[in-house]
Amino acid sequence: MTIQWFPGHMAKARRQVTEKLSLIDVVIELADARVPAASRNPMIDEIISNKPRLLLLNKADLADPRITQQWLAHYEKQGVMAIAIDAASGQGLKAIISSCEILVKEKFDKMRSKGIKPRAIRALIVGIPNVGKSTLINKLARKNIAKTGDRPGVTQAQQWIKVGKEIELLDTPGILWPKFEDQLVGLRLATTGAIKDSIINLQEVMIYAIKYLREFYPNVLKDRYDMNEEVLFSEEVVDIFDHIGKKRGLLMSGGMIDYDKTSDLFLRELRAGKLGRLTFENPSMLEVTDEILEES
Ligand code: G4P
Repeated sequence: MTIQWFPGHMAKARRQVTEKLSLIDVVIELADARVPAASRNPMIDEIISNKPRLLLLNKADLADPRITQQWLAHYEKQGVMAIAIDAASGQGLKAIISSCEILVKEKFDKMRSKGIKPRAIRALIVGIPNVGKSTLINKLARKNIAKTGDRPGVTQAQQWIKVGKEIELLDTPGILWPKFEDQLVGLRLATTGAIKDSIINLQEVMIYAIKYLREFYPNVLKDRYDMNEEVLFSEEVVDIFDHIGKKRGLLMSGGMIDYDKTSDLFLRELRAGKLGRLTFENPSMLEVTDEILEES
């Protein structure tokens, strides 16, 4: 689902997350491992305030494993607990439970010392659209959806999902917005398919992706599209469009290359992982991203 964010939507989304915070012990925040900074909400720290938080870099199966390690080291340095997962296949899901246990230990120890009986950890999953929230909930849920609306403090019936004995998840995730009105963040999100029918032009997205790949993963383009160096490093990016369009037979009447179809095919292949495991930002680029976030 693609959501167009307007100030009213953002305020409502924020309110919905804030309302649920009082019901839970820990926030499980999903980001996309291919664009860990661009796929996070710029106001997340403010929104979740001082709730313990676990950051999951999802779709790690599509991301460059070397850069994912760099991101995990970066978050560790910042004191943010983060793990890489692949919600679609279930890779890394066990670590979610053990990490949540660490995050709530102090609170639960206090509860125990006051004689309060141990209970399951209550968690809320949050993240921007398409980051994999429903996939993760379904994977964790198996069939353990339990209706438990009559808890003290729960004014409205909430569905909780049991994950083993240790965790209960709120069944509806908190949807957050990205900062996609920023050009660079928007291009990164569009490259990975997080924004589908956006106002961003597909050809522009392909130009961004090509320039990025040329710099960081030149062999990927060479190998996938059988491209020589002259085309790959041509000053005119259109030469790369022509090469790929011709290779794939994407011609209009008159033999001209169909650039719309070329961008569509190229981005579909890239997003599906056919060009390999790729990441479109690394922690050393954060200064730039931080500036963007500060402007928000
Ligand atoms: P959301 O609730 O946060 O909006 O996201 P959702 O779970 O619907 O996931 C969005 C897409 O991402 C889905 O693809 C889902 O299968 C895919 N996805 C989720 N987690 C992972 C993962 O760890 N690895 C990979 N490779 N894919 C993942 P879809 O339903 O096929 O939709 P589409 O985006 O392909 O159209």
